[in-house]
Amino acid sequence: MTKADFIQAGVMGWPVGHSLSPRVHGFWLKELAINGDYIRLPVEPEHFVNTLRSLKDDGFAGCNVTVPHKEAALKNVDEVHPLAARIGAVNTIKVREDGSLYGFNTDGFGFLENLYAGANGFDPKSGPAVILGAGGAARAVVVSLLDAGTPEIRLLNRTRARAEDLAREFAGFGAGKIIVEDWGRRSDCLQDAALLTNTTTLGMQGQRPLEIALKALPQAAVVNDIVYAPLQTDLLARAKSQGHQVVDGLGMLLHQARPGFEAWFGQMPAVSEALRAYVLAEQP
Ligand code: ATR
Repeated sequence: MTKADFIQAGVMGWPVGHSLSPRVHGFWLKELAINGDYIRLPVEPEHFVNTLRSLKDDGFAGCNVTVPHKEAALKNVDEVHPLAARIGAVNTIKVREDGSLYGFNTDGFGFLENLYAGANGFDPKSGPAVILGAGGAARAVVVSLLDAGTPEIRLLNRTRARAEDLAREFAGFGAGKIIVEDWGRRSDCLQDAALLTNTTTLGMQGQRPLEIALKALPQAAVVNDIVYAPLQTDLLARAKSQGHQVVDGLGMLLHQARPGFEAWFGQMPAVSEALRAYVLAEQP
């Protein structure tokens, strides 16, 4: 095996110590017997652009970008995929043959693929989606649902103005419409919904649980949390006990990693139970 066969990628963030991505890609590299590596790249904000620009000279096929660099990545790559431009963030970069940097965003892909894999018969077109939160994760969720043909998105955020900004920004995209509701109405706007997704940090380890009554949610609705630590949030536990199909947040993280792996290492990897178990073994 020559040095030229070796493919290197990584994740840039600050801090990046608790990123699960090295474990995910490391699993696939081994599973597919690819001669490559995926490493942590702790990069302070002031060094981000220079590090980005030297990716090719440093021998990288590309990288993932995480907090706090996702917006800076959007501004500093040579070409941005239109979906990443709409989401407003780049989380995956490919160094092309000519050395130019191509930025895309795989969060929406990960979100939808996770639902398709985790909820039997899930169809985003089948009814309204209730989305809690209006941060970076919500942007990817809303864009991907609009693209997938969700007829109506009910968007609720503690800070209502953020939800309104997001609704205004995406008003012209997709066939569906976005309706902003007050955060206080979250238990009351679940009627007819096909999906409930929590994109807030509520329910995360060390945070308060998400308070919401699920009585008005149709039995067939899928309940999804993008929080993955803990894996089974209070929301998911309650939804499950009330007979809903539930989909946890770990799958979104695993599925969003797939297109990057394919771009750098040349094969589309799969999300398996073995991968989930391997990644979970490192969870605190
Ligand atoms: P991310 O980019 O991961 O989505 P973020 O931009 O910090 O993270 O967004 C976190 C989300 O959790 C926001 O929707 C936030 O609501 P605000 O916009 O009002 O801040 C929501 N959130 C965080 N703590 C919350 C709490 N205690 N109650 C309700 N919502 C909360």
